[in-house]
Amino acid sequence: MSNELDSLVASARQAFVEAATAAQLEDAKARYIGKSGRLTELMKGMAALSVEEKKTRGASINLAKQAIEEALGARRQSLADAELALQLQAESLDVTLPGRHREPGGLHPVSLTMERIEQIFAGMGFDVADGPEIESDWHSFTSLNNPPNHPARSMQDTFYVDINGDDGIPYNLRPHTSPMQVRYAHAHIKKHAGKPDMPEIRVIAPGRTYRVDSDATHSPMFHQCEGLWLGRNVSFKDLKVVFTNFCRTFFEREDLALRFRPSFFPFTEPSAEIDIQFQQGPLAGRWLEVAGSGQVHPNVVRNMGLDPEEYIGFAFGMGPDRLTMLRYGVNDLRLFFDGDIRFLRQFR
Ligand code: DAH
Repeated sequence: MSNELDSLVASARQAFVEAATAAQLEDAKARYIGKSGRLTELMKGMAALSVEEKKTRGASINLAKQAIEEALGARRQSLADAELALQLQAESLDVTLPGRHREPGGLHPVSLTMERIEQIFAGMGFDVADGPEIESDWHSFTSLNNPPNHPARSMQDTFYVDINGDDGIPYNLRPHTSPMQVRYAHAHIKKHAGKPDMPEIRVIAPGRTYRVDSDATHSPMFHQCEGLWLGRNVSFKDLKVVFTNFCRTFFEREDLALRFRPSFFPFTEPSAEIDIQFQQGPLAGRWLEVAGSGQVHPNVVRNMGLDPEEYIGFAFGMGPDRLTMLRYGVNDLRLFFDGDIRFLRQFR
């Protein structure tokens, strides 16, 4: 190879090494072996040579071309490698990191209790009703035989809303689910209006309730479940059967004992507090209060729009939060409302 060709190859190699990108490399290639590249021009110049000269000159040019193409190929490869390395670095993935995953969700323990209560009562022919949490004074108190200024009103330390009802009395956050007794009775009567015989009223109404109260066993927002069975011949005996059956099913304990302890509620007469007693386990022997109950007061039956001489029955109100604590052995009510995943996860 001549000096001229040697230096051409050297300069091509240099240009290729200096090309920092694939595009620059292609430019450099064009300058040497492109259509009007320097080596290509040399080849064209051979036309004027003799056959003998063409042979030796051609062989040298070919060698030079091969050397340039080799250098080009090597540089292409190294640019591609560098690009790949950059890309890999940018998209690097630490496969040793712990994976992100979604934990399976679950129902809140109180929701589990609510579902359980609904199922058991549905099995005894009870409807399930839902009602407003912001209530009128009439529904929360007066209709339940608890008129304004009656001392029984102070049994519940109620939250009031800054809006007055039609009667000029502020709305309240219902302190119990009992207003659902009258609400449901009205809806039931309306639904069966004009028909010859109205079916009995048999309903439970679970939901949120509110009182100014907060400690290990009281929360300003808590849950209640109301029950009402009203017909022409429903007695206190029926209340005992229904509630005993409910408690034994709920706790899955046939040996559970129940006690109906005389009490006072404005909306029932007579009234009873219902206590339960476990025979085994950590709570064995202790009487635990789980509900208020009683025979629906004639004034309440009247406020439902029914004749108390014709309709009689019982009502009860229980605390699903309390039932949940007893069932799962939870000792602080506030755990239910803190939202701590370590606590809630245990009920999944
Ligand atoms: N509403 C009562 C309370 O919150 C509980 C209650 C007692 C409901 C007796 C009733 C009942 O339906 O008959 O303390």
